[in-house]
Amino acid sequence: MSHITPTMTPGRAAEIAATLDLRQLPTDFLANPYPVYARLRETEPVRRMPDGSVFLTRHADLLAVYRDAQTFSSDKQVEFGPKYNHAPFNEAPWAVAPGISPLFQHHTSSLVFNDPPLHTRVRRTLMGALTRRAIDHMAPGLVQLVDDLLDAIEARGGGDLIEDFASAIPVEIIGNLLDVPHADRGPLRGWSLAILGALEPALTPEQEALGHRSVSEFSAYLKDLVTERRKHPGNPEHDVLTRLIQGDGGETLTEVELLQNCIFLLNAGHETTTNLIGNALLCLQEWPAQRSQLMADLATAPDDAARQAVLGLAVDEFLRFESSNQLGNRRAMAPCEVGGVALPRGSLITLCIGAANRDPAQYAEPETLDLRREGNKHLAFGLGPHQCAGLSLAKLEGRIAIGRFVQRFPAFRLTAAPVRGGRARFRGFLSAPFAVR
Ligand code: HEM
Repeated sequence: MSHITPTMTPGRAAEIAATLDLRQLPTDFLANPYPVYARLRETEPVRRMPDGSVFLTRHADLLAVYRDAQTFSSDKQVEFGPKYNHAPFNEAPWAVAPGISPLFQHHTSSLVFNDPPLHTRVRRTLMGALTRRAIDHMAPGLVQLVDDLLDAIEARGGGDLIEDFASAIPVEIIGNLLDVPHADRGPLRGWSLAILGALEPALTPEQEALGHRSVSEFSAYLKDLVTERRKHPGNPEHDVLTRLIQGDGGETLTEVELLQNCIFLLNAGHETTTNLIGNALLCLQEWPAQRSQLMADLATAPDDAARQAVLGLAVDEFLRFESSNQLGNRRAMAPCEVGGVALPRGSLITLCIGAANRDPAQYAEPETLDLRREGNKHLAFGLGPHQCAGLSLAKLEGRIAIGRFVQRFPAFRLTAAPVRGGRARFRGFLSAPFAVR
C-alpha cells in the first residue's frame, strides 16, 4: 500500500464496520473501504443497517440477488418519492409537473431503476442500438481521440490524469454515440456529475438543487436535439439517437422515456468510465511490479490481437480491484432469504460490488492486483437482466486509453498526492497531477 490507498488497522476497520451508516461515512472509509468490507464479509455478510436496509458483501449473495429479478426489484418509485419529490423542489419553476421534481422524473423513468415492462422495452431498443457494429465503428475515432490527448500531454510534459485524460475520453465517446454536436458538449460532464451525484446516500440541499437544475437543462437541450434529429435522421447503423427515436421492431419510446433514457445513457458512460481509466493508472503507480510485468507482456506480445488480450485481462482486473461503481440497490418484492437470513417483503438491499469483488471465496488472493488473473468473473458491471448495457464499449475505452497511455508514457509518475472523489457509490479521483517522465 502507498500514499494513494492509506492502510487501515484491523481495529479501526472493526470500529467502522460496527457502526457503518451509508449516510455518514468517515473519510478514512472513503479512502480505503476494503478492510471494512472484509470485516463485514467475515462477521456479518448480511448486515442490518441503521435505516432498516441490509448491506450484502458476499459474492454468492450478490449473484443470488442479481439473478432473481422476480423477487428483487429495481423499481425505485418508493425510495425516490421522499428523496426527490418533496417541497420545495416539486414546486420550483423547474418542476416538470405539479408535484413531480426533475430528479424524481429522471431517475424513475430510466431503465436501470425500472422493472418490466418499461425496462424490457427500453433495454431492447437500447441494445438494438449498441450493436457490435456500432461499437466497432467507434474504435478508430477513439484511437485518434486518445492519441490527440496524449500529444497535448506530451507537449506540456504532463498534466492531470483525470482532467486532461481520463475524463476527456468518455464525454467525447458518448457524445459521438448520440452524435451530439461538438460545440454543445461543454456542459455534459457537469450535468452528468450532478445528476448521478444526487444518487449518493446523503445529499446537501445545494447538491439536490444542482441535480434538479441539471436534469431540467439537460432535458431542454435533448428535446431540441431530438426535434432536429427527427427532421434530419442520422445513419441508424451507428447513430444511437436515431435508432432510439425510430424504435425497435415497431415499438417506440414515449417522449419522456426517450429524453430521460438518453440522459441516463450519457450519464452512465461518463463517470464510471472516467473512473475505470483513472483508477487503473493510479493502480499502476501503486503496484510497480504489476506495472513492469504489464509493460513486458505488451512488449513481447507478437501482434495486436495478443496485445489486446493482455489489455483485456488487465482491464477486467482493474474493474474487479477498484470497481468504479461500488454499490447497487434492489427491493424485496416478497418475503425471502438471502445468505441464510430471512428478509420481509419490502426490504431494501444494498449490493456492495466492491466487497463482492474481493471475496476470498471467489478469488485467489483477492486483495492483490493481478493483471494476468484468469477466469475473473467480477461483478463490476452487475449481472442478470440489468447488467451494464455499455460494458463492451467501456472495455474498449479502457483497453485503448490505458494501453496507449502506458505505451506512450512508460515512466509516468505522480507529482502531487491525488485527490479522491470522496463518494461511496462512484469510486474514483478528482485530480492526479503527473509528469510524463
Ligand atoms: C467502467 C465503466 C462502467 C461500469 C463500471 C458500469 C457499471 C454498471 C452497473 C454495475 C450496472 C448495473 C446496475 C444495476 O444492476 O442496478 C450498469 C448498468 C447500465 N450501464 Fe453501465 N457501467 C459502465 C459503463 C457504461 C457505458 C460506457 C454505458 C453506455 C454506453 C453504460 C450504460 C449502462 C446502461 C444503459 C445500464 C442499465 C442497464 C439496465 O438496467 O438494463 N455503462 N452499469
